[in-house]
Amino acid sequence: MFKSEVDSARDWKRALQLMMPELEVRIWPESGDPGEIEYALLWTPIGDVMQSLPNLKVVFSLGAGVDHLLRQEGLRRDIPIVRMVDAALTQGMSEYLLFHVLRYHRRMPEYAFLQGERRWQQLRQVAAERRKIGIMGLGVMGADVAGKLAALNFSVAGWSRTPKSLPGIQGFFGADQLHSFLRGTEILICLLPLTPQTRAVINQQTLATLPRGACVINVARGAHVNEDDLLAALESGYIAGATMDVFADEPLPPGHPFWRHPAVTVTPHIASLTNPSTAASHVVNNIRRHQHGEPLTDVVDWEQGY
Ligand code: NAP
Ligand code: GLV
Repeated sequence: MFKSEVDSARDWKRALQLMMPELEVRIWPESGDPGEIEYALLWTPIGDVMQSLPNLKVVFSLGAGVDHLLRQEGLRRDIPIVRMVDAALTQGMSEYLLFHVLRYHRRMPEYAFLQGERRWQQLRQVAAERRKIGIMGLGVMGADVAGKLAALNFSVAGWSRTPKSLPGIQGFFGADQLHSFLRGTEILICLLPLTPQTRAVINQQTLATLPRGACVINVARGAHVNEDDLLAALESGYIAGATMDVFADEPLPPGHPFWRHPAVTVTPHIASLTNPSTAASHVVNNIRRHQHGEPLTDVVDWEQGY
């Protein structure tokens, strides 16, 4: 097991052993004989440790996103990577997104401004069914939040790589349909994996395709957004607000303009955090599958990059 925070590694050890007492869990760097390690649970590989485990059978990613893992030099393609999929992780993401969508929908940033001015002013409220929410990425998390937003009567569209048919959600797919999707989106959510195809997908051109006054919520990876283009669109007033949980450079440097921008909400990559007490079952179930010769779940597709 490899994790930068030892306490969290200890939480993982406890949670895994509770579910699978026969599992011997070692915390890097006190991992003993490298030849005895069969499964590695990690966020980012540390140095060349992956190459130094000759009997490694499966890599488990602590995160749902695996871009940081796939970027590592020398990762062995013969070893499957299982990414994190956990109902509590998905629920946490939907909570974060429902909160920020409702905040924009109910015009809370404007009321906060009016309060600062001590102005009693009622603003026109659009009905939920007329509010258009667009979700980039209709995977585990995108599909969950799409369903929850649709249940609140919002008009929800989603954009994915391959066609998707989800009840009550208008589906768009592929590069050809990106602009049609964006044209009808007032609150844009990014829940894409970071791949060469999705890097900087939110840029000057795509922002300009959104209707004037649209808001952007990025909970995927910082590199999905061209930050200079977003700042320019916010400065011009074309984009009304942005909620950013992830950044090109994390931790967000103290001098970064996002920190002080009145139209930007910054959170420190906490939209949804993996919790060992719930997520351990995903790892244990897959270890059991592997031991019984059954197919693993949620294996990363090297070609697609997610
Ligand atoms: P997922 O299940 O793999 O879903 C990815 C979705 O993106 C799929 O619908 C996929 O299309 C779509 N997609 C991939 N490439 C595309 C492309 N080129 N064009 C259009 N659509 C594309 O991922 P997930 O579990 O929902 O997680 C999404 C991301 O959230 C993760 O990769 C991670 O970066 C981020 N995340 C952030 C936090 C946080 O705290 N901020 C927490 C967890 C996860 P198909 O359906 O056609 O395959
Ligand atoms: C967090 O960012 C994750 O990918 O789970």
